[in-house]
Amino acid sequence: MNLKDQLIPERLPQHVAIIMDGNGRWARKRGAARIFGHQSGVTPVHDVVEASGELGIKYLTLYAFSTENWGRPADEIENLMLLLVSTIKKETKKLMDNNVRLMTIGDLSKLAETPREELLKLKQLTAANTGLTVILALSYSARSELIQAAKKIIGDAREGKITPEEMNGTIFESYLETAGIPDPELLIRTSGEVRISNFLLYQIAYTELYFTPVFWPDFRKKDYYEALLDFQNRERRFGKTSEQV
Ligand code: FPP
Repeated sequence: MNLKDQLIPERLPQHVAIIMDGNGRWARKRGAARIFGHQSGVTPVHDVVEASGELGIKYLTLYAFSTENWGRPADEIENLMLLLVSTIKKETKKLMDNNVRLMTIGDLSKLAETPREELLKLKQLTAANTGLTVILALSYSARSELIQAAKKIIGDAREGKITPEEMNGTIFESYLETAGIPDPELLIRTSGEVRISNFLLYQIAYTELYFTPVFWPDFRKKDYYEALLDFQNRERRFGKTSEQV
């Protein structure tokens, strides 16, 4: 039986998050410039978006650019943003045809005007789509997200909108950028690195982690199905015993 047919629909996650890592090393191994690795990283983005839609997964969060990535050489950042804009333009029709909604998390105000405007346009255009939601984490930092949440809570408390007694998990989550989005059940990181790198720190409290040595440009549907199969074979206990779950 092929990998896809082994997947059990009722046991699929509804939200998968991916740290797409290894573009630079993939390119270096080929004696090519890092941007060639990023360009080659678009095909796997296609693959996971398409596969998620086909499988009926509801949310796919892709870590495309971290706050820390602003420290990279200026030409790499510029080329990455150009790649983002050209990919958005090329894919718009396909996203609409497939009922995909695009959202973003992260500080878009740090982006140059063109990528920011293109992203906003695509977010607006796809806002009413009801199929897969693709969440691009761009200029994202989980610690900044938490600090921003703290600032907003303090502001609301000062204005009397919230009291310490009222605060709970549900209310706290409404202050995060991911408000309204269920936590990811599965987080995949490619390229053999075994780190979280400031990604969704609050939201991954009970997320199953899956690390693969495959560099992102080589990641294909088959690799995605393998991760999903691995997830299905895990027992998620949320702190309880095997007998209880
Ligand atoms: C990590 O590899 C990858 C990135 C920082 C950029 C991810 C971007 C893409 C996959 C391009 C397409 C994206 C979209 C959404 C159109 P790295 O550069 O950190 O690799 P390294 O660790 O080997 O240096």
